[in-house]
Amino acid sequence: MQTKVTPYGNTTKTKKEEVEEMFDNIAHRYDFLNRLLSLGIDRSWRKKAVAYIGEIKPKQILDVASGTGDFAFDALRIQPEKVIGYDISDGMLKYGREKAQKMGVSNIVEFVKGDSEKILFEDNKFDAITVGFGVRNFEYLEDGLSEIYRVLKPGGRLAILEISLPTNTFVRFFYDIYFSHILPFVGRIFSRDVRAYTYLPESVKAFPQGLAFVQILNTTGFKNVEWKALTLGTCALYTAEKHEAS
Ligand SMILES: C[S@@+](CC[C@H](N)C(=O)[O-])C[C@H]1O[C@@H](n2cnc3c(N)ncnc32)[C@H](O)[C@@H]1O
Repeated sequence: MQTKVTPYGNTTKTKKEEVEEMFDNIAHRYDFLNRLLSLGIDRSWRKKAVAYIGEIKPKQILDVASGTGDFAFDALRIQPEKVIGYDISDGMLKYGREKAQKMGVSNIVEFVKGDSEKILFEDNKFDAITVGFGVRNFEYLEDGLSEIYRVLKPGGRLAILEISLPTNTFVRFFYDIYFSHILPFVGRIFSRDVRAYTYLPESVKAFPQGLAFVQILNTTGFKNVEWKALTLGTCALYTAEKHEAS
């Protein structure tokens, strides 16, 4: 059972409501802060994930917790027919739609508002699903993963990226200084949201890491579940497939 870490700790709201509110609040600064705080390395992480799903040449892709759509746009390199960016925050989706317009790809990349724990699509629809830094924010992790499994086609692929904690003591020492002090400070100044970039390290610490998350994916029903530590263990790429229909 995960400890429930919420953005604002408001007892009258669910975690989902708070997460939606927080991303609405920081949407205007999200892309800028992402690039700044990850020093642009997040691009290489998404590239690896897209390369994995690209091996099966998916035509229909769902990007869960898509936010402003970076993962969805990266998926264009593998030439899908359609990518749906799916997210609970209208604020984030607004920027995703604007980016799609500017890039002239609104006919391929579409954004749909919805909750990952109740995905608004039919069973077995998508050839591949991506989730970038989203699962940690789900209120009920297992429900979200089961929904992802349901809408993935048999034989389809899932790639999840999530921030993780380095296991090397030396790296971890400097990472903790950055992650627990510098990042919240810079995030607070630019996003003007006092909690968002403090919630980030708190939610990462409370989230199952590495093999613990692999185990959850296995229990959900996925097969060939693997994980890889990226950039000194600061990010994890989880890959999995859905069983072929028997
Ligand atoms: C850290 S952002 C990641 C955005 C994007 N995937 C990326 O790689 O930059 C997390 C996103 O997850 C979305 N999210 C959190 N919980 C969700 C849920 N239950 N259903 C749909 N989206 C959710 C948030 O609104 C937010 O846009």
